[in-house]
Amino acid sequence: MTKTRLRWTTAATAVVLGTAAVFATAAPAAAAPADVDSGYLDWGFKASFRAYVSTGNGTPPLGASNGASINPNGTFRFPVTSGSYDAASGATTVHYGGTVVFSYPAHFFTITLKNPTVELSGATRALKADVDLTVTGGGFEPVHVEQAVVATIGAGTPAVDGGNVSWTNLSTTMTETGASAFAGFYAAGSALDPLSSALVLAGDEPTDPGEPGNPGGGSASQELAVDIPGGPLTLSSAGGTVNLTGASIGGAATGTLNPNTVSDLRGTNAGWNLVGQVEDFTGDAGTIGADQLAWAPTATAAPGAGTVTAGGAATGLNTGRTLCKSDSGASAGVFTCGAGLTLNIPATAKPGSYTATLTLTLS
Ligand code: HEM
Repeated sequence: MTKTRLRWTTAATAVVLGTAAVFATAAPAAAAPADVDSGYLDWGFKASFRAYVSTGNGTPPLGASNGASINPNGTFRFPVTSGSYDAASGATTVHYGGTVVFSYPAHFFTITLKNPTVELSGATRALKADVDLTVTGGGFEPVHVEQAVVATIGAGTPAVDGGNVSWTNLSTTMTETGASAFAGFYAAGSALDPLSSALVLAGDEPTDPGEPGNPGGGSASQELAVDIPGGPLTLSSAGGTVNLTGASIGGAATGTLNPNTVSDLRGTNAGWNLVGQVEDFTGDAGTIGADQLAWAPTATAAPGAGTVTAGGAATGLNTGRTLCKSDSGASAGVFTCGAGLTLNIPATAKPGSYTATLTLTLS
């Protein structure tokens, strides 16, 4: 059987819809760090560890609770609990909530990882968490650390769009402390899963009313008014080339679309639709038609966002297909859309390397 490695590239088209009016924006002043209102961290810890534990006898092997959830691709999502972001310096400290549990009774261990913190400031690029290793035998020693630096975070600048700040697929590397919670099965320096985080910054804080004045009498009233301008509707796509793997002639190759973040800050709840279409796969050896590509879309809404629907599973991305959409009435906020991809490889295909460009259009 001939193995064929297929690669393709994604190209994102960001569509910015008209801003309703130009007023002084409600975005936080650049001078002071802004509070983080909401958002999330997506991190899978380490895919190979999830795979190892999930074949074990835990009930369940992998769990998420206290606000954390398991994404369709198996990584974990932790919601923001508090944080600050300084646009001027890039200094960021964000606390996230939630607990994930890796349980493998037959191997004597339960590992709990909770309340991660991301700290980015100058040379400090740290992922902290509370980690517990509890053991039920086998001569292993338990470990308990709180807000310890379990991983360092690789370089990467955030995408900033008004009050939305996001990092996508930053590399993470295990520290000595992180490794200590895994009973020697990992060394410091082990590559962990990349992390992504999307933050929604708070607007200006209400002014402190100050101390009450001297007792006295009288009353007065003031009318308060605020103009909030509409923000943009934007799309950003993470990561580089998506490699489709496991190819064989007459078989199929599969992969996962890089995550795509739709941010609807227009304030109109007008609905949006994200559509994808691919060109033919081409290479030195020939062409594989775009109609051979199938996808199974996934979609998640950030906490507090509206409602998102993943497009239907479809074969034939030679025509535009909906990856995800949000209907009018509940389309505001930040959403992440992805897809499992399957390329059917015709029995007549020739071995070689093929690439294609998938274009996503948000409207
Ligand atoms: C505190 C106890 C234990 C911890 C924390 C632990 C942790 C780990 C970790 C982190 C890996 C590497 C997973 C990866 O990224 O590929 C691993 C692999 C492995 N562990 Fe454990 N383990 C423990 C106990 C045990 C015990 C008692 C056994 C045997 C009965 C065992 C058998 C294995 C095997 C066979 C692998 C290789 C799995 C593979 O490559 O598919 N482990 N373990």
